Amino acid sequence: MKIGIIGAMEEEIAHFTHLFTIEEKFTLGKNKYGEGKYGFCEVVLTKAGVGKINAAAAAQKMIDVFHVDLILFTGVAGAANPGYEIGDVVISTVCQQHDIDASPLGFPRGTIPMFEGPSEFAADPAWKSILKEAAEEAGDVNVHEGKVVSGDQFVADKKAVQYIRDTFDADCVEMEGAAVAQIAWMHDVPYVVLRTISDKANGEAPQMFQQWLYEAAERSADIVTRAIQKF
Ligand code: ADE
Repeated sequence: MKIGIIGAMEEEIAHFTHLFTIEEKFTLGKNKYGEGKYGFCEVVLTKAGVGKINAAAAAQKMIDVFHVDLILFTGVAGAANPGYEIGDVVISTVCQQHDIDASPLGFPRGTIPMFEGPSEFAADPAWKSILKEAAEEAGDVNVHEGKVVSGDQFVADKKAVQYIRDTFDADCVEMEGAAVAQIAWMHDVPYVVLRTISDKANGEAPQMFQQWLYEAAERSADIVTRAIQKF
C-alpha cells in the first residue's frame, strides 16, 4: 500500500516530518517529494502549494511518478456549515469546485462544462471510515463527514460564505480538495480530504486562520497518521 499525502502549506505538512522519517527526497519541477515508510505503508509526502493548480499538479505526480494507491489531502479549512466550530474535523464525502463558472453558456455554476464525468467527486468509503475511527480516537474532537468545496480564493466574507453554503450545500471551503479529487477520479485512484476548521470564512477569517492554522493543521496530520497506522 502506497499513500500519497498532500498538503498545501508548510504548516500542513510540517507535522508529518516529526511523525515519521522521510528516507528519500525527490525534486520534480519546483516541488519536493519525500518518500518513506510508516507502519505497513509506504508514504510519499509533498507540499503542493496553495490553490487548485498546485494541488492538481501534485496529485498527478503522485499517480504518474509514485504510483500511489491512495491520496490523502490534509490541512485546514473555513467552515461553511454554521454548526461547525474551529477545531472540528471534516472528512470529505464529496468535493466540488465552487468557482468554476460557465453559467453564460448554460452550465450551472460549480459544474465542469463539457466534461465526461461528474462535478462532485466522491471520497473513498473505506478510507473515510478509517479516518473517522482515527479521528474519534484522537480524543476531544468533533468529527463530521461533510462536503468540501474548493476555489482559488480565500473566503473571508459572511455573504460570500453564505452564498457558497446555499448554492453548493457546502460544509467547508478550502482551495485544493476538488482539484485532487478530480485528478484522482480521472485515474481511478481513491482519495479522501481531511481538514480541520481554522476559521469561519467570514470577516474574521484572516485573523482566525493565522491564529489557528498551526494547531488545526497539526490535528489533521495527527489523524491522518493514526489512520495510516490502522492499515
Ligand atoms: N482554508 C482555510 N480557511 C479558508 C478560507 N476561509 N477560505 C479558503 N480556504 C481556506
